Amino acid sequence: MYDINSIRGDFPILQQQIRGRQLVYFDNAATTHVPVQVMEAVKQYKEKFHANPHRGAHYLGVKATMLLEEARAKVAGFINAPTPEQIIFTRNATEALNLVAYSFGLSEVKEGQEIVVCISEHHSNLVPWQQVAKARGAVLRYLYLADDYSLDWQQVEEVITDKTAVVAIATMSNVLGTINPVKAVIDHAHRQGAVVVVDGAQSVSHLRTDVQALDADFFAFSGHKMYAPMGIGVLYGKRELLEKMPSFLTGGEMVEYVEEQDASFKAIPYRFEAGTPNVEGAVGLAAAIDYLHSLSWEAIYTHEHELTAYALNKLIEIPYVKIYGPTEAEGRGPVISFTLEGCHPHDVATIVDAEGAVALRAGHHCAQPLMKFLQAPATARVSFALYNTKEEIDQFITSLKLVRRWLGYES
Ligand SMILES: Cc1ncc(COP(=O)(O)O)c(C=O)c1O
Repeated sequence: MYDINSIRGDFPILQQQIRGRQLVYFDNAATTHVPVQVMEAVKQYKEKFHANPHRGAHYLGVKATMLLEEARAKVAGFINAPTPEQIIFTRNATEALNLVAYSFGLSEVKEGQEIVVCISEHHSNLVPWQQVAKARGAVLRYLYLADDYSLDWQQVEEVITDKTAVVAIATMSNVLGTINPVKAVIDHAHRQGAVVVVDGAQSVSHLRTDVQALDADFFAFSGHKMYAPMGIGVLYGKRELLEKMPSFLTGGEMVEYVEEQDASFKAIPYRFEAGTPNVEGAVGLAAAIDYLHSLSWEAIYTHEHELTAYALNKLIEIPYVKIYGPTEAEGRGPVISFTLEGCHPHDVATIVDAEGAVALRAGHHCAQPLMKFLQAPATARVSFALYNTKEEIDQFITSLKLVRRWLGYES
């Protein structure tokens, strides 16, 4: 059974009052909070085992190495990667995507070839590809959206062709909440000979991930959006691609032999992990995976789906609200972007915070090309996690209804 009270009890930060109101945290697409189980795992590591891994021959060094490698194996299981060596620890999804762009992209994309990105991509899966296109003389092409905010399949077939070297696409939009048909895009792209880089940052905490079933060539995500600490991210890659990729960052830890003029590099994954790794982050990520697995994916999905449907229904009833994204909860994730007629999204965020202690996000959400496409300079965004409740949505809606009055409107 999904015991929401017990789950909320695992997140101390949610227990607090802000200016006399119960905190409502709806900025989960930006970062999620950390349960005590994850904090405890990190504390244990810091108290008992902290050392630099892969160096020390002493007990603590061996223990830190074991914990790091256990975390790698756990992450591999979490996304169904064939082997742990295909899991590279990074700082976050952004660094993972840059690794692919600067290593694979710069070495494999040829002049005149095309790189295809979706217009709804987060800057992290878009700007690195702009850099690769510029450096290699490649063409950056976009997949635009249909009127219902979904990927326009006709465009997918027209734009991804045998000229395409790379397709960069997110599983779930951090603005629209849409879930892209990534498997179908991958199948089509593979028929054209392209490699597909999947940004899983928004979906990993909501949907089960299976990189083999997807047949993804690369898959990137951040720990801090799935109940782990900040500063740990993951890049998965197919072995044959990772093995032929040049290093991204070089220096300590990733080398085999270093001569005065040259160096040879370790095998994957270490070749891509220069310098001291974030062991406590990896330990925290492993504990976050255990936490997610202690609940079922079905239960998490059902709970978050119900919250999304409930919030959408409440928002639709307000005549001056415009939703950017599907208004049906079916087939979408728990991220809802909206504007209030006559109100700047930053005012919306400030007023619901002041009135209802509701934390939501306002701005371009690191998706400026999408904002231009939507003809919206900014939106407000609520995003739900496994610990949110319908009562919190009620508190949010009550404070939202005060925004226009604050700004001098009659209703
Ligand atoms: C879809 C998507 N991709 C990538 C990122 C970048 O994540 P990070 O800042 O953890 O690197 C985000 C963060 O909001 C995101 O929503």
